[in-house]
Amino acid sequence: MSNSLGTLFRITSFGESHGPSVGIVVDGCPAGLPLTPEQIQQDLDRRRPSTHPGSTPRKEPDTVRILSGVLDGHTTGAPICMLIDNTDAHSDAYAPLADIPRPGHADYPARIKYGQMNDPRGGGRFSGRITAGFVMAGAVAKAVLNTLDVRVFAHTTRIGTIEAPSTDLSVAQDAWRRSTLSCSDDATAAAMEREIEEARAAGDSVGGIVEGVVVGLPVGLGEPVFSTVEGEIARALFAIPAVKAVEFGAGFGLCSLKGSQSNDPFTFDSGTVVTSKNDAGGVLGGLTTGMPLTVRVGIKPTPSISSPQDSINLKTGETEALSISGRHDACIVPRAVVVIEAMIANVLCDLALQGGFISGSVK
Ligand SMILES: Cc1cc2nc3c(=O)[nH]c(=O)nc-3n(C[C@H](O)[C@H](O)[C@H](O)COP(=O)(O)O)c2cc1C
Repeated sequence: MSNSLGTLFRITSFGESHGPSVGIVVDGCPAGLPLTPEQIQQDLDRRRPSTHPGSTPRKEPDTVRILSGVLDGHTTGAPICMLIDNTDAHSDAYAPLADIPRPGHADYPARIKYGQMNDPRGGGRFSGRITAGFVMAGAVAKAVLNTLDVRVFAHTTRIGTIEAPSTDLSVAQDAWRRSTLSCSDDATAAAMEREIEEARAAGDSVGGIVEGVVVGLPVGLGEPVFSTVEGEIARALFAIPAVKAVEFGAGFGLCSLKGSQSNDPFTFDSGTVVTSKNDAGGVLGGLTTGMPLTVRVGIKPTPSISSPQDSINLKTGETEALSISGRHDACIVPRAVVVIEAMIANVLCDLALQGGFISGSVK
C-alpha cells in the first residue's frame, strides 16, 4: 500500500471505515503556525453527512482530536497527528457482501490483491471515510497557504444532468455557505437536490463535477518535469475514492481549438503580468502563472445502490443479484467538495515549501 503523499509537507493516512478511528499524520508543517481544533473542525463539519435527503444515515460527531505537534495554539514543527473516532459503524450490514463484490466498488480487486486479509468492513481502506484525514491535513495546509494570501476553494458545478451556470470566482468562493451542495446558484442547487432525491427514491445514485479554484498564487510554484503542478494535484485528487476525471483550465475543450483561440494573451494589470483569459487554468509548463488555478474534478455515482445489480458469488461461482442495504450517500459530490479543496491545498503547501516560498518557521 502507499499511504503517504508529499515531499516536505508529507501526509500519512491511516484507519479503516469500521476500525476504531481514521486520521492523518502531517510531517513537515512549519513551526509557529497558529492552529486551533476549531479550524480543523470547520472543514471536517463540511465533510460530514448533511441533512439533505440523499445523505447517508451514518451519523457521527467526527470531533477532531489533535494528539501531537501543537502547543499553546501553535504548531511546533513536530509531526501533527489528528484523528476522529468511528462511533456509528454497523459492520453486520456488510456480512452478506463478504463473497459478493459490489459492482463499482473496490471489493473485488482488494480481495484478490490482499489475499482476503484486507479489512472489508464498510469498504475498509477503500471507504470514503478515510477522506476525513485528508480534510484534517488540508485544513493545516490551508492555514500555511494563508500566510502567503493563497486561498483554496471549490464549488459544485454539476449533479447528474443538472449543470450550474458559470459564475464569478468571488461568488463561487462562498458557495459552500449558500447550500449544503456548495452550488453558487440557488435555483440550480434546488434542481440538484431534486435530482439526488429522485435517484435515492429509485434506489439509485448520481455523480457530478466539482471545480477547485486557487487564488493568490505566486508565479513559479511547481517542480518540472516530474512534479508539475498539474501532475501533483491530479495524483492527489485521484486518491479520493470515486474521482474518475481531472481537467485543468479549459482541459479537453482546448483540443478542438486553434492555437490563436486557445492561447491566453498576456497583458499588464496595474503593473502585474496577467492574461486576458485563463483557459490554461493558471498553469503553464507545470508552473503556476499567478492567474487563478482551476481544476474540474469528475465524481462518479455512488457505487452502493439498493436497486438490484448483477454480481457473482466468489465462493459458489454462481451469478447473484445484489441489493445493497447498508447506509450510503445517493450522491457523494457535496461531501467531496471540501475533500477536493484539501487535497489541492496539501499539494500546493508541499510545492510552496519545495520552492522556498515558505520556510520551516512562519513566525
Ligand atoms: C466522501 C465520500 C463518501 C463516499 N461514500 C460512499 C458510500 O456511501 N458508498 C459507496 O459505495 N461508495 C462511497 N464512496 C466511494 C467509494 O469509496 C469508491 O467509489 C470506491 O472506493 C471505489 O473507488 P473508485 O470509485 O475510485 O474506483 C465515497 C467516496 C467519498 C469521497
